[in-house]
Amino acid sequence: MAVTYTLIKECPTTGARAGILHTPHGDVPTPVFMPVGTQATVKTMSPEELKEIGAGIILSNTYHLYLRPGHELIREAGGLHKFMNWDRAILTDSGGFQVFSLGDLRKIKEEGVTFRSHIDGSEHFLSPEKVMEIQEALGSDIIMAFDECAPYPADREYIKNSLERTTRWAERCKKAHTRQDQALFGIVQGGMYADLRQESARQLVPMDFPGYAVGGLSVGEPAHLMYEMLEATVPLLPQNKPRYLMGVGTADYLIEGVSRGIDMFDCVLPTRIARNGTVMTRDGYLTVRNAPYAKDFRPLEEGCECYACRNYTRAYIRHLIKTNEIFGFRLTTYHNLYVLAHFMAKLRESILNGTFPDVYQEFTARFGRKKE
Ligand code: GUN
Ligand code: ZN
Repeated sequence: MAVTYTLIKECPTTGARAGILHTPHGDVPTPVFMPVGTQATVKTMSPEELKEIGAGIILSNTYHLYLRPGHELIREAGGLHKFMNWDRAILTDSGGFQVFSLGDLRKIKEEGVTFRSHIDGSEHFLSPEKVMEIQEALGSDIIMAFDECAPYPADREYIKNSLERTTRWAERCKKAHTRQDQALFGIVQGGMYADLRQESARQLVPMDFPGYAVGGLSVGEPAHLMYEMLEATVPLLPQNKPRYLMGVGTADYLIEGVSRGIDMFDCVLPTRIARNGTVMTRDGYLTVRNAPYAKDFRPLEEGCECYACRNYTRAYIRHLIKTNEIFGFRLTTYHNLYVLAHFMAKLRESILNGTFPDVYQEFTARFGRKKE
């Protein structure tokens, strides 16, 4: 199999687990946060810098690469790894999220989704078969089934139809998938209805995907609903396969996801806020572009060992960002990805040495538990 998972240790009191994801482009220790490289680049970061930070896997997007530069061009380049000079693992999302976010620009039918490009308004059609063809051309290590990420809120009837179609689409993806060196993951949907989440998981698990994602969360619902949906879903997923919570990348959601048995996460937020001049620190968010940092000659985060913090001050980085200098965005991005990589490594270490519950307690005592 293209991608396998080794479970190394489970926390005896929570659902947290430490493992290794084995891919054709290297082993990835889990739990892991995957930086997002939508357009075949993690914005502002070189592959060498990503490696320095410790990234073993990044995420890219079928929808964007299909529209620009086109998957045939990437095939011609020798695949996405070669095209972008990244020799570690890549997961591509299926477009099931992007296409559905287009609102009025798209039309869903059983066969697939017709939509207009956000770039030039041209009309396109994505189906499970098409999405498999595109991801096979890209050559990513992990490819995602074409699903519907339903909006929040949505009524039960809508969600039931949507999750059942997502299952039929997952079957079509499985049938259309030919490359044995790529792992196709299924995506559990079911909105905010615990029993529908379970129904979705019960339909997908017998299809024996090498990994499972939980989709349709972090779509604007209160935190407690996300936690309830995870608690309803994760216990039904196979223990010997990786579990991926899509679209989650804040420290509180990461630790809550890990404590409920999630192994993989991705989110644009850490890199997006970096380009707005906001960095993650152990005390929470710090918007370094704000006036109070004009003459602050400390690093972004005291004690941080990252390249940005070892060499530059808040005052300097604020100046760069205020003047729209690219180097400023590179430094804040570098720091945020470093912070998250180290946070995940710390969680993993604590699972391995039996102190995860203490780390969890300490975190929630410091920040409180997000419930609303
Ligand atoms: N990214 C965040 N949520 C989702 C989801 O539900 N489906 C897909 N394909 N990608 C996502
Ligand atoms: Zn730093």
